[in-house]
Amino acid sequence: MFRAIVLTKSDDEKIPQARLQTLEDSALPVTEGPDVLVKVDYSTLNYKDGLAMTGRSPVVRKYPMVPGIDFAGKVLESADPLFKPGDEVILNGWGVGESHWGGLAEKARVKADWLIHKPQGITSRQAMAIGTAGYTAMLCIQALERHGLSPNQGEVLVTGAAGGVGSVAVAVLANKGFKVVASTGRLSEESYLKNLGAQSVIDRAEL
Ligand SMILES: NC(=O)c1ccc[n+]([C@@H]2O[C@H](COP(=O)([O-])OP(=O)(O)OC[C@H]3O[C@@H](n4cnc5c(N)ncnc54)[C@H](OP(=O)(O)O)[C@@H]3O)[C@@H](O)[C@H]2O)c1
Repeated sequence: MFRAIVLTKSDDEKIPQARLQTLEDSALPVTEGPDVLVKVDYSTLNYKDGLAMTGRSPVVRKYPMVPGIDFAGKVLESADPLFKPGDEVILNGWGVGESHWGGLAEKARVKADWLIHKPQGITSRQAMAIGTAGYTAMLCIQALERHGLSPNQGEVLVTGAAGGVGSVAVAVLANKGFKVVASTGRLSEESYLKNLGAQSVIDRAEL
């Protein structure tokens, strides 16, 4: 048995209903290929989860759906030799929480290919505090570095700086020694952005 936030919507309803339900493990949808049953320890409330739960954008492909586009937890059962019970794992994306039941639940059954082992030196809680938004910010910075960006080339502008992706981008870039200019539509967040490491904060309207 496990508890999950379950979204349901009939054809004549515009907004999904979200309910906390207790379900049998057998209710978890199976995947193609070897799958892994995970005890979810942490998940994130991503912007996409907000869209799924409010129905403001059609991110959910079928109902009933358990939202939660990411999670960190421990393997309970595995049909893939790469994972064994007790392994700590992380999942980001792969349509989980959109077309396959996601992380806002105590258990999830997902394709083994979608999981990675949790790196040493980070807790499950920290991984989900970073979340998919933070993970995305890091992927963006890695891509910029692959294209040759380095701190000695001058300032780096982060747009949408007070948002989920932007705020982690500000923190990671500052930590790596970049001079970050944070652009925001919410100048009330100036001290937050400076605390994250921004050297200066500009009004989005100036761009
Ligand atoms: N979150 C994820 O996991 C993820 C993954 C992949 C891709 N993305 C993409 O990354 C982008 C940011 O996502 P997010 O999760 O960080 O969203 P978010 O938390 O809502 O942040 C978006 C930020 O964009 C700025 N913004 C809002 N309206 C704007 C406008 N009209 N013109 C210019 N800037 C505006 C705001 O920044 P200020 O508050 O500073 O004004 C807002 O906080 C989105 O395009 C999203 O689709 C997100």
